[in-house]
Order: sequence, then structure tokens, then C-alpha cells
Amino acid sequence: MIGNYTFFAPQQIVFGWGRRREVGALASTLGRRVWLLSGSRTLERQGHVAALAEELRAKGLEVHTASAPAREPEVADVDALTNDWRARGAAAGDCVVAIGGGSTLDLAKAAAAMVTNRRGDSVLDYLEGVGKGWTISEPPLPLLAMPTTAGTGSEATKNAVISSYDPPFKKSLRSDRMVPRIVLVDPELSVTVPRETTAYTGMDALTQLLESALTRRAAPIPQALCRQGLQLAWSALPRAVRNGGDREAREAMAHAALLSGMALANSGLGVAHGVAAALGVHHRVPHGLACAVMLPAALRINRFVREAELAEIAHLLLGRSWSSPAAAVDALLEAVDALCRDIGIPSRLRDLGVPREDLPRLVPSSHGNSLSGNPRELSDDELRTLLESLW
Ligand SMILES: [Fe+2]
Repeated sequence: MIGNYTFFAPQQIVFGWGRRREVGALASTLGRRVWLLSGSRTLERQGHVAALAEELRAKGLEVHTASAPAREPEVADVDALTNDWRARGAAAGDCVVAIGGGSTLDLAKAAAAMVTNRRGDSVLDYLEGVGKGWTISEPPLPLLAMPTTAGTGSEATKNAVISSYDPPFKKSLRSDRMVPRIVLVDPELSVTVPRETTAYTGMDALTQLLESALTRRAAPIPQALCRQGLQLAWSALPRAVRNGGDREAREAMAHAALLSGMALANSGLGVAHGVAAALGVHHRVPHGLACAVMLPAALRINRFVREAELAEIAHLLLGRSWSSPAAAVDALLEAVDALCRDIGIPSRLRDLGVPREDLPRLVPSSHGNSLSGNPRELSDDELRTLLESLW
């Protein structure tokens, strides 16, 4: 049975090696003045960002540039960028072009929304769970997103994850209106991403594909996207980590990450992402690394309520049959452990610098939109036991 569903996705997806040069023609359909946000110092040094600005100007667009800080975006970062853009005259009719990893795209999405939604003076008031419950009522500046890492899938989602360390939280600014209008994925931009970042961001994409495939909000189109994304990422991720110049692997990972974004935006996630938010805010563990460490445990804790689905994924990824669904799931869990070891993912929370006495405070911070999608409802006691077992 298919049932009812609603599906959101970017209006236009442009994918391909070297296609960044089409940015001018694409952006000119969104506005005459461009607020260009770049998050990669490497791409800036190599001249890619200047070339991008040139492509935009060559199409007659007025370009204003800004650099995103090299961290997951904080409330103060969004407020500062919004104020900067407003002070320089940003207004409805303009557009935003963002090039960078998930943090940069999230910062751009949030500022693009805040420029046109002028109630109050901080994005904090609009954040899920911690704000004043305000919503994005005015259309954000339309966004053209150019991801440079294959991970978060932020280029295809309707939220921006915003952190605060005092008080500590990691929450989303979310609105159906925040889905980027155009996604321009040029996998060639990812060839200079370092090995460790490739591993962490790739594991984020893989975790998103697995959690979206199993979530209690699973829906038909995301399920189909997850299947293709999982098949591609499973073999491409170790190859992209070993050899960053492997074009086929980089293309497969860029596409899988994009699919993971569309899947999670429509299906939600699970406990790995729930705890990852807590690890990010309390211990500044990079998002992809936190997801990677949590993934094996997340699969194990959900295996008995998603046995058929996990067995099917085992067949899809490992290409063989087993005597029972339970045996297939065992094989999948072993293979995920082996993949994590292969690409250098630590297996214990203590390896991430989390002191054991901090585990109890991770429990309340793990609650949120991601955890609510987990197939099994987890009590705080179960969550605490899970964290203890991983320490
Ligand atoms: Fe993620």
C-alpha cells in the first residue's frame, strides 16, 4: 500500500563534473543581485570562488561576497551575516549563491530566510524547541546551493541546523520555504576534500540514508532514493577515502549525499542523529564523525523492529542470500562495523573525548526532531544505557 504522502525537493537539480561554470546562467533566473557566501578557504585559494563571481558578473549580475566561518553555524553567525547583508541593502528580489560544506549551506539558508523575515533581531526566536515559536512567513531570498562535500545533503533539505554553546543547544530553523531553489552539484569541487573529512561527511550521508530508510516516517519516494543512494555510497565511500581523485567515487558520493538530503527532508532520521546533535553541542564532535560512531549502535537497537527492511538492505548492499532475515541483519551489522574500521572511524564515545560522567547530560540534549523519527521509541533510561554501552 502506498498511502498518502507529501514530497518536497529543490525545483531544479543540475549535476555533473565541471558544471559549476553554469552558475551564472542559473543564478540569473533567481535575481539580479547575488549575495555570494563561500565556506572553503581551499577553493578560495585555488581561485574557484573568484571564478564563480566572474561567471556571475559575466551574466550581468551584481555580486557581493562574504566568507563563512569554518565551523558549524552558531546563532551569532546567522545574526551577523543577516545584519551584514541587510546593512548592504539585501532585499526581496535578490538571490543567494552558497558554495561550501553543510555548515556553509546551512548558514546561507538561515541568513536568506532571516533577511526577509524581519520580526525580532535574532534567528534564535525562530528555532525549533528553544525559540518563540515564530515561523518563516515571508519567502526567503531564493538560494542556489553548491555543495563541496558529500555529506549533509543540506543542499536539498528544508532546515538549517544552528548551534549555541551557552546555553548549549543544536536546533533547526525549519520551513518548507527554505528548500534551495536550485542545486548545482559539481563533484569535481570535492576532489580536494581531505581524507578525514571525506570519511566523516560520507558516513553522515550513509547514516542519513539508513536512518531515513528505517524511520517511522518512511515514505515511498524517499525509500526509493535511499535504495539508490545506499548502493552507490556503500562501495564508493571507501574508494573516495582511499583516493580523493577517484572521479567515479566522488560522483557517486556527491549523488548519494544529495539523495540522502531529499530523503531526510521528507522522512526524518533517528537516534544516531539525535545523539549526534548532543555530542556536537556538548563536546563539539564534528557532525559526520558523531553520526558515524553512533550508526552501528543505532542499527542494533532498531534491528528487531526493522528486521525485514534491514535484511532487504543486506541483500542490496552485500549481494547474497542468508538462511534467515536475522542472519542477513547480522551480516549487515558486521559489514557496517568493518566499513567503519576500514575508513578510520573510532568505535567508542571515549575516543571522541567524552568523559563518562557527561553521559547523563547527553540524554536530554538528544531529544528533538531526529530522535522522534527513530523506529523504536526510546526511554531516557534506554538512551542512557545505550550511551553507557558505547562509552
Ligand atoms: Fe546528518
